Amino acid sequence: MKRPILIHPDPRLKKLAPPITDLSDDLRLLADDMLETMYAAPGIGLAAPQIGVDTRLIVMDCVKAEGPRRAPWPCSTPRSSPKATTRSIYEEGCLSIPDIYADVERPAEVTVRWIDPNGTEKQETFDGLWATCLQHEIDHLNGIMFIDYLTPLRRQLITRKMVKLKKDRAREKA
Ligand code: NI
Repeated sequence: MKRPILIHPDPRLKKLAPPITDLSDDLRLLADDMLETMYAAPGIGLAAPQIGVDTRLIVMDCVKAEGPRRAPWPCSTPRSSPKATTRSIYEEGCLSIPDIYADVERPAEVTVRWIDPNGTEKQETFDGLWATCLQHEIDHLNGIMFIDYLTPLRRQLITRKMVKLKKDRAREKA
């Protein structure tokens, strides 16, 4: 089932999401809903807080990335640590901040540990778009959005635009 995506600014996007303690069928259903919502948007990654669910689950499918195509990817309680000192810049966007893009610099390579839907602990190192996307999605679990890396002025302008967008959308619905 497709779920509505929260638009910035929203207090639910600024929270530290609690870890997942139990890998139930509910979690698998949530992952399915998140993938469906992400593909419909369309987007390449989505974090549970973006649909108002306060838990550490992300899904990703970086179809635009070079190299072997990975399977779509539910990943619970992920943790990332930078692998190298090199950094890379990607133009990032976010489903919670529609039609806004900005260059963000992040570590070019990260090692991520997570739990897959079968409860197996995984660890892998990622680079390129996957590394950026993973860091972006894991940030969401910590209440951080990509605009938090921009200057306060730019962030303020974008936030103002989003407030207006939400008003316009609410008016359309009314
Ligand atoms: Ni995002």
